[in-house]
Amino acid sequence: MVVVMSADAEEADIQAVVTVVEGAGGEAFVSRGVNRTIIGLVGDVEQFGTLNLHALRGVTDVVRISVPFKLVSRENHPDRSVVRVGGVPIGPGTMTLIAGPCAVETPEQTLQAARMAQAAGATLLRGGAFKPRTSPYAFQGLGEKGLRILADVRAETGMPIVTEVVDAHDVELVASYADMLQVGTRNMQNFALLQAVGGVGKPVMLKRGMNATIEEWLMAAEYVAQRGNLDIVLCERGIRTFEKATRNTLDISAVPVAQRLSHLPVIVDPSHSGGRRDLVLPLTRAAIAVGADGVIIDVHPNPESALCDGPQALVDDDVRELAQTVRDLPPIVGRTLA
Ligand code: E4P
Ligand code: PEP
Repeated sequence: MVVVMSADAEEADIQAVVTVVEGAGGEAFVSRGVNRTIIGLVGDVEQFGTLNLHALRGVTDVVRISVPFKLVSRENHPDRSVVRVGGVPIGPGTMTLIAGPCAVETPEQTLQAARMAQAAGATLLRGGAFKPRTSPYAFQGLGEKGLRILADVRAETGMPIVTEVVDAHDVELVASYADMLQVGTRNMQNFALLQAVGGVGKPVMLKRGMNATIEEWLMAAEYVAQRGNLDIVLCERGIRTFEKATRNTLDISAVPVAQRLSHLPVIVDPSHSGGRRDLVLPLTRAAIAVGADGVIIDVHPNPESALCDGPQALVDDDVRELAQTVRDLPPIVGRTLA
């Protein structure tokens, strides 16, 4: 069950709800969002129904929710949400292109990749300064130096930055540069990290764990939401299957399924799922056709020398086709390029 407080509810009103719930043997988790506070109740739902919570001051709604993820569920919030990243919307009605290098390597490479992204129609810049690598000997990212490069490229291009954080201890640092924090597939169930990003007040992109069910993914989003941050964008990036022709298998049906279960925007990563340049445009078209709220795509000025994921990066020659795809397809499915 979820109690929705009005925008002008005072701290005492919130505490009154918590006291009543705890007095009845339940637990109350307060999520303070930018626009409203939501209180998730755990315990005997039948008993909560007898508490007359509607009548308490500052309470706008009391919603009974049958799914285990409460705050991110559509039962709690029937309208699909729009998340704004530095003013750029991600959500229903629009299709947002996020593009940039997989990893920040040099100022020149990052700026060139950002220019390629802009030429394709991207309004948000991706780029990793902290890279989650399979091998400890592989390039791990430039760390804060990479964040500074991203900030310089944002100043130069005007593109807000989406960048990954891999360690709960780095959340404050990354958030001090980023417009959106990315939690990658390998960290989808790193609960300390999820709680830390939930508490820092920046929009979060939560990639689906490559071995996670849709319900586990939404429960991970619930960890972020429970810390008072409902500015979460879900990203389907492929799951592990028996198939070896692609790096991972893009679960395209996850897009409408997650959109039906959750009010959060859902985007697709055709680069990391396929892992192959030649699949990025076909998978982008599939993502737009199925109703994704955006796509996030790797581009690189010189992929042969890329320090991470060169084989999946789009090159200059692909940019024109990507631009055409994101310009022409969204209107067919009732969306405009954000
Ligand atoms: C992403 O950008 C990841 O760091 C990358 O896909 C991991 O790939 P790896 O398995 O080669 O380290
Ligand atoms: C990335 O987008 O840089 C990344 C590491 O992706 P994923 O977590 O999906 O592998």
